[in-house]
Amino acid sequence: MTDRKLILSYKEYTFDELSGEDRQLVEAAVGAMRNAYSPYSNFKVGAAVRLSDGSIVIGSNQENAAYPSGLCAERTAMFAASAQHPELDIRSLAVAGGLDGQLEEVPASPCGACRQVMAQYQRKAGAPLSVLVVGAECVWKFDRVDDLLPFIFDSI
Ligand code: THU
Repeated sequence: MTDRKLILSYKEYTFDELSGEDRQLVEAAVGAMRNAYSPYSNFKVGAAVRLSDGSIVIGSNQENAAYPSGLCAERTAMFAASAQHPELDIRSLAVAGGLDGQLEEVPASPCGACRQVMAQYQRKAGAPLSVLVVGAECVWKFDRVDDLLPFIFDSI
């Protein structure tokens, strides 16, 4: 038996400490919270992805009376970006969320299904996809999806 350890790393920023590009992406994600359609949970989530040409595509959570038919903000944004710009890569994603549109104190972290989809677009790009998770007082930055989703399924 070998005892192995895994170290994940991320950085915690105040909003003002972010680079101009990251700040812009965070602002787009926070703005996209207003477009959430979440009559069942009242939890509003906005996401914004930065593409390889520098452009930004936004998404928000879209709920449905048949609950599993709804979709998270992150996947809404990534699928919209890839559907509209299949030739471009996703370089970065920001996500912001909170009950009744108020940002959570502790940043609301992406669900597992969204992390798996991020992993796929990182794989498609062949380059790190950074993830910014936005809270009321701080922003967590993961330089690559691997730091948010260790042991990514990547076998096929
Ligand atoms: N939600 C997201 O949009 N992203 C996540 O990563 C987790 C959860 C949405 C789904 C649902 O509309 C609401 O938040 C409550 O779970």
